Amino acid sequence: FPTEIKKIACIGAGYVGGPTMAVIAQQCPHIQVTVVDINPQRIADWNDEDLSKLPVYEPGLPEVVAEARGRNLFFSTDVEGAIRESEMIFISVNTPTKTYGVGKGMAADLKYVELCARQIAEVATSNKIVVEKSTLPVRTAQAIRTILDSSSINGDTGASNKKAQFAVLSNPEFLAEGTAITDLLHADRVLIGSEDSEGGKQAEQALANIYANWIPREQIITTRIWSSELSKLTANAFLAQRISSINSISALCERTGADVDEVARAIGMDSRIGSKFLKSSVGFGGSCFQKDILNLVYLCRHFNLPEVADYWEQVVTLNDYQKHRFAKQIIDSLFNTVSGKKISFLGWAFKKDTNDTRESAAIYVADELLQDRAEIHVYDPKVKAEQIYADLEYLQANRRNTTQENGQLSSEEIRQLVNVHQSPFDATQNAHAIAVLTEWDEFKTYDWQKIYDGMLKPAFIFDGRNILDREALKAIGFELTSIGKG
Ligand code: NAD
Ligand code: UGA
Repeated sequence: FPTEIKKIACIGAGYVGGPTMAVIAQQCPHIQVTVVDINPQRIADWNDEDLSKLPVYEPGLPEVVAEARGRNLFFSTDVEGAIRESEMIFISVNTPTKTYGVGKGMAADLKYVELCARQIAEVATSNKIVVEKSTLPVRTAQAIRTILDSSSINGDTGASNKKAQFAVLSNPEFLAEGTAITDLLHADRVLIGSEDSEGGKQAEQALANIYANWIPREQIITTRIWSSELSKLTANAFLAQRISSINSISALCERTGADVDEVARAIGMDSRIGSKFLKSSVGFGGSCFQKDILNLVYLCRHFNLPEVADYWEQVVTLNDYQKHRFAKQIIDSLFNTVSGKKISFLGWAFKKDTNDTRESAAIYVADELLQDRAEIHVYDPKVKAEQIYADLEYLQANRRNTTQENGQLSSEEIRQLVNVHQSPFDATQNAHAIAVLTEWDEFKTYDWQKIYDGMLKPAFIFDGRNILDREALKAIGFELTSIGKG
C-alpha cells in the first residue's frame, strides 16, 4: 500500500463524513477528496452555491467548504466511481440502534456498513485501504475483512478472481457537534487501529501521514485494531456517565437544598475529576451516547458479562429518568395537568450550535406532555418544523422501552397539538409555561420582561439547561424551576 495518498473517497456525507472530509481537504490541498452518498438531496445541498443551505449546520464549516470545494473537495452520488478511483476509502455511514430482529433496541445496525464493504469488494480493481470512521462494535473489522476477502470469490465457480488487496483500519471520530471544526483542527488525539500485518502497518502509516499535515505526530496514537474500536465506545460511555452522575446528584440537590452547579464546581476543581462535562441538564441527547452505550451493553451480554452490562445500562436508565423527571415536574407544577395548556419549548436541537435533533431530550419531554394533551409551541433557531414532526412520529413508531405506558399518537394528533414558530415571542405569547430544552446563547439575551408580559399568570418557567439568570427572572415575577437547585 502507498504511504502517501493522493485520492480519498468517503462513503457517507453526514454530520461526520461532511465536516471531517472538508477539513482533510482544506488541510491537504495535494489530496483529492470525494464524499459520496446515496441521498441525492444531501449531495445537492453540499454542492449548493448558497453556503447557508449546507445540510449540516456547524460554526466555521461554510468557510472551510468555500475554501476547498471544487479545488480538491467534491461531493457526488457516484459511489462506485469514487471507490474505483481512490486509494483510501472512509466508511462514514450511520450505525443506528437496531429497530428490528435480533438485538432490537440494543445492538448497532451494521447493514449500511456491510453494504459499503460489499460494494467496495465488488467494484475495486486496485488495492484499497478501507477506514472505519463510523462508530462500530468491537471486532467489526473482522467482519469487514471477511466480506472484502470473500466477495472476490466467484459465486458460480468458487474460483478466486482477486483483483485487489485490502487493508482495514479503525479511525474513530471524536468530534462533538456544534464544535466539529475546532475539534477536527485541534483534536486532543487521533486514533488509528491497524491489523497486525505488513500491509496493516503501511496503511496505518498512510493515514497517519494525512493527519500529520496539521496534527502533531505525538497526538496521533496507534493501537491494535480491537483496542481502537473499543476505545470509541468507551470514550462515549465515560462521557455520558459523567452527565448521568451529575444528573443523579441534581435530583438529590432538589430534595436537600444543595445547588448542583455549586457541587459541580467544587468537585471539578479537583484535577483528578476535572471540570468538563459536569453540566447538569434535562438529559443528554444526540445520535451517539445512548446508541453507543446500548451497543456496549449488548456486547457485554453477548460476551457473558452481565454485571458489566448492568453497570453501563444504568447510565441510560438514569438519563431516561432525568427526562421523565423534568416532564413530570412541569405537569406537577401546573396543578397536575397540562391538558389544553400552552407550553412553549425554547430549543429542540440536542445541544446548541447544531441543527441535529436526534435523540434530543426535547422529543421525550414533548411526548410525555402530549400524552397529557398539552399544546406545545416550539421555537428553535436552526431546526425546521418538518424535522420536529418527523422526530415525534419516529418516536411513536420506535419506542425503545416497550414497557412505557405512553400511548400512540397519530400524525394528525401531533400536528394538531404541536406548533412551530419563527420567533420566541410568538411561541411564548399566552403561554402557561416555558421549558428551556437547548442551551442556545440567544435565549439568555431575550427581553424577558416582554415575554413575561405576554404570558398567562402565574408564568412558569422550567430551565432544563440552567442558563437563565435566576434572580432577574424571579424579580420580574416568573415562577422559576431549575435543574438541581433546591
Ligand atoms: P448521518 O446519518 O448524518 O450520515 C450518514 C450518511 O451515510 C447519510 O447521509 C446516508 O445517506 C449515508 N449512507 C448510508 N448508507 C450508505 C451507502 N451504502 N452508500 C452511501 N451513503 C450511505 O450519520 P453521522 O452522524 O455522520 O454518523 C456516522 C457515523 O459516525 C456513525 O457511526 C456515528 O456513530 C459516528 N459518529 C458520529 C458523530 C456525530 O457527532 N454525529 C461523532 C463521532 C462518530
Ligand atoms: C459526543 C462526544 O462528545 C464526541 O466526542 C463524540 O465524537 C460524539 O458524541 C459521537 O460519537 O457522536 P455530541 O453528542 O456531538 O458528541 O455532543 P456532546 O457535547 O457530547 O453533547 C451530548 C449531549 O450531552 C448533549 O445533549 C449535551 O447537551 C449533553 N451534555 C453535555 C450535558 O447535558 N452536560 C454536559 O456537561 C455535557
